[in-house]
Amino acid sequence: MNDTLALFGGNKVRTQAFAGWPVFGEEDEQRLMRALRSGRWGKLNGAEVAEFEASFASLHDCKHAIGVVNGTVSLRIALMAAGIQAEEEVIVPPYTFLATATAVVEANAVPVFADIDLETFNLDPKSIEAAITPKTRAIIPVHMAGQPVDMDAILAIAKKHNLTVIEDAAHAHGARYKNRGVGSIGHMGSFSFQSSKNLTSGEGGIITTNDEKLAEACRSIHNCGRITGGLWYEHHVMSANYRLGEFQGAILNSQLARLEDQTKTRDANGQYLATQLGHIPGIYSQRRTAETTRHSYHLFLFRIEEKQFGATRAAILKALAAEGIPVSGGYAIPLYRQPLFLNNAFGPYLPNASKALDFAKVSCPNCEKICAEQGAWLEQSLLLGTQKDMDDIVLAFEKVYLNRNLLSAMP
Ligand SMILES: Cc1ncc(COP(=O)(O)O)c(C=O)c1O
Repeated sequence: MNDTLALFGGNKVRTQAFAGWPVFGEEDEQRLMRALRSGRWGKLNGAEVAEFEASFASLHDCKHAIGVVNGTVSLRIALMAAGIQAEEEVIVPPYTFLATATAVVEANAVPVFADIDLETFNLDPKSIEAAITPKTRAIIPVHMAGQPVDMDAILAIAKKHNLTVIEDAAHAHGARYKNRGVGSIGHMGSFSFQSSKNLTSGEGGIITTNDEKLAEACRSIHNCGRITGGLWYEHHVMSANYRLGEFQGAILNSQLARLEDQTKTRDANGQYLATQLGHIPGIYSQRRTAETTRHSYHLFLFRIEEKQFGATRAAILKALAAEGIPVSGGYAIPLYRQPLFLNNAFGPYLPNASKALDFAKVSCPNCEKICAEQGAWLEQSLLLGTQKDMDDIVLAFEKVYLNRNLLSAMP
């Protein structure tokens, strides 16, 4: 290894590109063409989405799955199916994509932020308990990066306070908690098939459940309020057309055939990388919990303790990027610091509650620390590569660590 950092003109550790995303081939083309030639392009008369729903449900130990247009609408429909009423409260983490909280607002309910655990990056059950009020009706835990949340603790809290649990599993296709598929543990699960996700059709989402009544409610809401056995022009509840399309169903069917192998590869590489990086002072990979039987590694998360490492996060990430490792600092601010929340810019939603809401007062210290100082991510496609790819990543970290003194002057 040439010891001069690439940032200062040395050779890069990694010059080759890492594995790309999405992965596709002739099978996808054939499946897509088959759907095209069938002339049945919508969910109501095609076979692709129905087949996918059945396979996806069974893969996640669920009886029911309802394919919808994205992983935001799936959360909103789940909240509506759970009967959440205007201005009731739903507990969410602040370290997540916008949709986990805005789906709550779109259901005309109030998102209440509870803090995450510093080591797992997942909702901390103690913080959930502290956030409960008489208005709390649901919790949306996110299986952040694909590592299942402490579902036992969350279900115990939910039982005690009679709350609905909707697992946001947008990152967690194929992940398992105590050997049970995520999305089957709470009352409902919600997945996304947006472009970056571990299973993708460009856009798309799905709701999973083992509860017949909730499944029926979701089916109705995603299909203009129609009911099983009802007429086409017979609409029962507030709803719309949120159905997943057949072309997406076709791609998802062909992509699903790859998911098992890809998930195994990501999990093996993720664990290998975490072990190797564990030798570097100041680098802490997302702590794997004992209940995680499979991590889907939508992201490889780690924390940087700047003092222990001897350089700032910004300098380390810059140096790693220069070595050819695509790395990011992740969410830069907690969700509640988004202008949307600071300004209560909820449009027509929450007309009364928003007058009293002051998100500037929310404080989730662990999330703030991760966003401002410590958090960093590698994306899932990197973990689809070989062990040599992982070794290159480790080599780059080691090189940056060895040269930390040269970085210490950088902000
Ligand atoms: C945790 C989480 N929840 C929900 C979503 C929303 O999914 P979609 O983009 O399909 O609406 C995403 C990502 O996009 C996500 O990362």
